[in-house]
Parts: sequence; C-alpha cells; structure tokens
Amino acid sequence: MNLEYPILVIFHVLGAAIWIGALVSFVLGTLPAATRTGDLSQLKSTGKIVLGRVGFAALVVQALTGIRLAGNWINWSTIFKEPNGHLILTKIVLLVVLFGLGGFLFHRTLPRLEPDKLGGFVGMTWLVLILSLVVLVLGVGVRVPGFLGS
Ligand code: HEM
Repeated sequence: MNLEYPILVIFHVLGAAIWIGALVSFVLGTLPAATRTGDLSQLKSTGKIVLGRVGFAALVVQALTGIRLAGNWINWSTIFKEPNGHLILTKIVLLVVLFGLGGFLFHRTLPRLEPDKLGGFVGMTWLVLILSLVVLVLGVGVRVPGFLGS
C-alpha cells in the first residue's frame, strides 16, 4: 500500500486544524480579553506563537503538502483550464495573501501595538481567519466533485 497519499492528507488536515484552531482561540479568547482590560502583554506573547512560530510552520506545511496533493487532482500544464485548477490556483493565491498578512501582523503590527490601535489589529486578524476558512472550503471543493461547481 502506498502511504504517501494518506500521510500527505494527514499533515495537510493537521496543518489546517492547528492554523485555524490557534486563530479561533486567539480571535475569540485572547483578543476580547485584551480589548476588555487594555493589557496587551498576553496578546503579544500569544500572537508571537499564533502568527509566528506555529502559524508560519503550519502554513509552510499547507503549501508543501497542498502542492504535492494538487498533482493528484490536476495537470499542472493545464491548470488554468481545469475547474479544479481554478480552485487550486485560488488556494495558492489566498495562501500567498495569508503569508503576507500574517507576516505584516507579526513583524510590523504586533511589536508596536498600542491599546488605541487594537481595533485595526482585531479586524485584520478576523480577516486572516475568514480567508483561512475560505481556503479550507476550497479544499473540500477539490475533494468533493460538484461542490463549488467543479
Ligand atoms: C491555509 C491554507 C490551507 C488550508 C487551511 C487548507 C485546508 C484544506 C483542507 C481542510 C482540506 C481537506 C478537504 C477534504 O479532505 O475534504 C484540503 C484539501 C486540499 N487542499 Fe488545502 N488547504 C490549504 C492550502 C492549500 C494549498 C496552498 C494547496 C495547493 C497548492 C492546497 C491543495 C489542496 C488539495 C489538492 C486538496 C485535496 C486533497 C485530497 O484530499 O486529495 N491546499 N485543504
């Protein structure tokens, strides 16, 4: 039995669970607590993990496993013409956007965050979560023919 496929799917789904799970707990737990108290110390230390070390590693795993898995569903040379190719291209573009937004929040916003700028940070973090959920749904669209019209 070829174990490559199930192992790739396990890592891809695990990466999605870690990335989205960490974001949900950050957005629904850490951010409201910081908004209530005005104390940003917990937010900064948790944010470094969620958007930094763990988040970055999870997104790298998504990119590597996703590209390898995509080869089972599309032909790279005709990616622009295939319906599944459109879903996968959208996933890749959104992943690049997520790397950009996550990197910006981690390197630029988080280190110099002040209580009066918290609203913008919360909005950006929600955007990252929503885009991540869109990427997840697109993955199900690849997997389930007919869902999302492919
Ligand atoms: C934040 C980034 C990503 C998340 C959260 C994510 C999430 C998911 C999830 C949860 C599935 C499983 C769907 C299912 O089994 O029903 C999936 C499947 C898939 N994803 Fe992603 N994904 C991400 C990035 C990518 C990227 C960058 C690519 C391609 C370059 C990709 C390609 C695929 C493919 C081809 C499948 C179908 C795998 C299969 O079952 O054979 N994903 N994705």
